[in-house]
Amino acid sequence: MYNKKIFKDNLLRWFDAEQREMPWRETKNPYYIWLSEIMLQQTQVATVIDYYLRFIKRFPTIESLNDAKEDEVLKLWEGLGYYSRARNFHTAIKDVYQNHNSKVPNDPDQFGKLKGVGPYTQAAVMSIAFNKPLATVDGNVFRVWSRLNNDDRDTKLQSTRKAFEQELQPYVEARSGDFNQAMMELGAMVCTPKSPLCLFCPVQDNCEAFEKGTVSELPVKTTKVSKKTVKQHVYIVKNKQGEYLIEQRTAKLLNNMWEFPMYEATSQFNVNSELGMNIPFLTKPSYKLKHQFTHLQWDIEVFMAEATVDKQQVNLPERMHWMKFEDKEQYNFPVSMSKIYKFLKGH
Ligand code: ADE
Repeated sequence: MYNKKIFKDNLLRWFDAEQREMPWRETKNPYYIWLSEIMLQQTQVATVIDYYLRFIKRFPTIESLNDAKEDEVLKLWEGLGYYSRARNFHTAIKDVYQNHNSKVPNDPDQFGKLKGVGPYTQAAVMSIAFNKPLATVDGNVFRVWSRLNNDDRDTKLQSTRKAFEQELQPYVEARSGDFNQAMMELGAMVCTPKSPLCLFCPVQDNCEAFEKGTVSELPVKTTKVSKKTVKQHVYIVKNKQGEYLIEQRTAKLLNNMWEFPMYEATSQFNVNSELGMNIPFLTKPSYKLKHQFTHLQWDIEVFMAEATVDKQQVNLPERMHWMKFEDKEQYNFPVSMSKIYKFLKGH
């Protein structure tokens, strides 16, 4: 294909000179590196930095996170989304505390058995923290590697991931953590999805797609799953004291987080059937929003009660609370609900 050594040298020279400063690049603490890699999945570097710094300030050690309540962990994650990442990480840290003497295992097989550690996290943490020779393949690497090799295999297929991991293996025998991060950094800074900066690319000479003029056609992602859309109705009920009715979720998605009572539009349940009341609502939604998950989209319509209700007359089910506006920080709200909360604030 091309000279592997020259390619790697060029890439690493660029990375050494141009890499962005990130707080987790200043440490070799595997717990911190692991946390950063979990936060960086599905979330941009610029967003992650503040969350990461707050998290390690509050939970500087594996022991401190082991002792934490899930509620507080989720609270520090609030706004980052994909909360199962936080739950799984917490579970895995407890496992490390109990079964690995509070030391992140430096054996890839043992590390790979921990909750929430898939092939990407395994390779990233093992290579960056312990220099183990495992290649990371994330969205950036799929893009960079497809282009370098002018490879039009479908990057959504497991077989393509396996092939890329194998092809990258020779490059991670030395400086594996730096090589992996350099590939991701190149994907984030130069070899971007749209308008890549090929003229500034340190490995342009090695890029077959650049040579053949196919950069904009790669990577190929054919088997895109179509997203399911669920229509949701949210009901805003206020009492005479100005408190809002909120409910703790029991569904697996966003489990235990709080929301303004929400029901699928097709459901026969609504807030009145839950409360045994007959609260009239405005017939037109006051606010509409869409919220995206990986495999799902919520189309939400927000309905306001026509009048406040008398708290004494309502027998609240256990999972419902009256919340004072200013007490919001005491509850974990997913991003979709924070958007509604912001809307209410303006009204
Ligand atoms: N994306 C996820 N982890 C990364 C890392 N360590 N460096 C650059 N981009 C990343």
